[in-house]
Amino acid sequence: MTDLTIGYAGKYGTTAELAARLEHEVRALAEQNVDRPRTLETRCVPVQELTAEHLGATRMVVLGGAVYAGRLPRALRRFCERNREALLAREVGLFISCLYQDERAREQLSKAYPQWLVTHAASLANLGGRIELAKLKFVDRVVMTRFAKTENDLDRIDEHRLASFAGEIFAHLSRE
Ligand SMILES: Cc1cc2nc3c(=O)[nH]c(=O)nc-3n(C[C@H](O)[C@H](O)[C@H](O)COP(=O)(O)O)c2cc1C
Repeated sequence: MTDLTIGYAGKYGTTAELAARLEHEVRALAEQNVDRPRTLETRCVPVQELTAEHLGATRMVVLGGAVYAGRLPRALRRFCERNREALLAREVGLFISCLYQDERAREQLSKAYPQWLVTHAASLANLGGRIELAKLKFVDRVVMTRFAKTENDLDRIDEHRLASFAGEIFAHLSRE
């Protein structure tokens, strides 16, 4: 049985990086635990690679997606709908990667994932986001520069929330 499975979806690498860092931090918390140090079995993969068998054999699932024009990537939305029963049958954590902050980010977080999953989730987090204009495909760069008026690269990764979210996930895993 896998302890933690993380499935992520994003176009430009920030969400993948956040997912990998989350996995690393949760594993470190388990290894450094004073009462009962242990090595967790974890998996961190793009959501397209997650199968029903993976879900069936994991204690906790964390899903993470980047927000583009208010929505999560299609692969992640489809994954949620196709695996509704399995997700409702286990503990779930959800995160988004986005540039909005505070109230607008909270609103995006609660609207991006389906309502049944938001209600079911044990932990939800906005981990912030990053834009490197030179990396973007032409259309996305036009969206960001002309419509969102983003003139420079932005790094709004929320280190503090990443650490506290890892703590929350570890706390859920520590409950027998
Ligand atoms: C085309 C496009 C649309 C975006 N739309 C939003 C948005 O609606 N709200 C938001 O907060 N961030 C938005 N962002 C910012 C991304 O959510 C953020 O940069 C995220 O970290 C990207 O993750 P990735 O590197 O995994 O693709 C947008 C970025 C792009 C490129």
